[in-house]
Amino acid sequence: MAKDNIKGLRPETLAVAYGYDPEMGMGSVKPPIFMTSTFVYPTAQHAKNVHEAYFDGTGPLVGETNHIYSRLGHPGLDFLEKRLAAIDGAEEAVAYSSGMAAHSSIALAYVRPGDSILHGRPIYGGVDMLYNGIMPQFGSHAAAYLDGTDEVDVRAAAQAAMAKGPLKLIIAETPANPTAALVDLDLMVRIADEIGEQQGHRPLVVVDNTLLGPFAQRPIAHGVDLCMTSLTKYCGGHSDLLAGGITGRKELVEHLRMQRTTWGNHLDPYTAWLVLRSLESVAVRTERAMENARGVAKFLRSHPKVADVTYLGFLEEGSRARAVYDRQCNAAGSTFSFHLHGGEAEAFRMLDQLKLMKLAVSLGGSETLICHSASTTHYAVAQEKRLEGGITDGTMRLSVGLEHVDDLIGDLKQALEAV
Ligand SMILES: Cc1ncc(COP(=O)(O)O)c(C=O)c1O
Repeated sequence: MAKDNIKGLRPETLAVAYGYDPEMGMGSVKPPIFMTSTFVYPTAQHAKNVHEAYFDGTGPLVGETNHIYSRLGHPGLDFLEKRLAAIDGAEEAVAYSSGMAAHSSIALAYVRPGDSILHGRPIYGGVDMLYNGIMPQFGSHAAAYLDGTDEVDVRAAAQAAMAKGPLKLIIAETPANPTAALVDLDLMVRIADEIGEQQGHRPLVVVDNTLLGPFAQRPIAHGVDLCMTSLTKYCGGHSDLLAGGITGRKELVEHLRMQRTTWGNHLDPYTAWLVLRSLESVAVRTERAMENARGVAKFLRSHPKVADVTYLGFLEEGSRARAVYDRQCNAAGSTFSFHLHGGEAEAFRMLDQLKLMKLAVSLGGSETLICHSASTTHYAVAQEKRLEGGITDGTMRLSVGLEHVDDLIGDLKQALEAV
């Protein structure tokens, strides 16, 4: 499919074929995997011209596709990055060896000693470690908002961040892992614009779109600067790879891609091919998983041993979160959490009784995964911060997969009897 044909095509269509043209692969309908570390030049002058185009953006080869060495870029990355950008409706994309490689690369590209960043709570444990454990060792600061739909709360947290140093990044993980708490992206963009006027430079709004994925939520359309997605989850979709992607404006993404050359955390040719292949079916996979999730969430909500279910499909009409959901999300997703009456002991008893659902971290795969958040994904987050984010000792995260919904409900039913 030629690049010019992108206009007017829907993301589902772009996900199937965009980014690779069979002419590039001797007519093969699917892209070949270019398993190579380096690329041959026809002449020494050509080699120099390729380097000039790559590093300086000048010379006779600007605008041509040429490769140097796979850490700098390879054909599989070209195909995947074009497709990721097209699906997200962004100008450019850059792919990494994991979601955390993508997050770390944003931090290294944009945060300097003395700067501050703002994020929500709860937030994925790895991102919490990055901004509250590792980056402070290089002199940066972090502040957190507790309700990303509450303008007063977000503004107060932004002021607290700015009191520590210039605000460089506003991180919005929405829905947040594991409680599916929402962050209002329009609000974040508005606040970033205002802070830009105040500070003289605008903080970047970075969205983590991992929990809903590119079809159920389209952050770029809300004017955010960068959209990060752990491709390990819904996009990869089979719990058999790790990858991360960032989409956004050309100048921001090109800066990240150039730095990736040095960090060396690009996505390898085989995994890039796997993700490209899996993107073809992500829309239908997530539709089925979301339908199953609705059934499972309804069952859990009606069970006497379940205290609460934080499923986006249950947001109360008229609530602030519901208004954000209606504006921002196309669907409720298939990852949510539920809280048992009781704590860790009850949760562990139930988990140990499951026969079909797998007790494992991660989400977005074809199989249903369940975990106890406080003792796994958010283990390294201090208890008081976990509680602030709504993660109790009874919280369990469920990523509903593609099995038959009645089998999933049957498994939960028998496991809950053991509690
Ligand atoms: C919301 C969120 N962001 C980022 C990541 C990190 O992604 P990866 O495991 O691909 O490094 C995860 C992983 O679970 C996640 O849940």
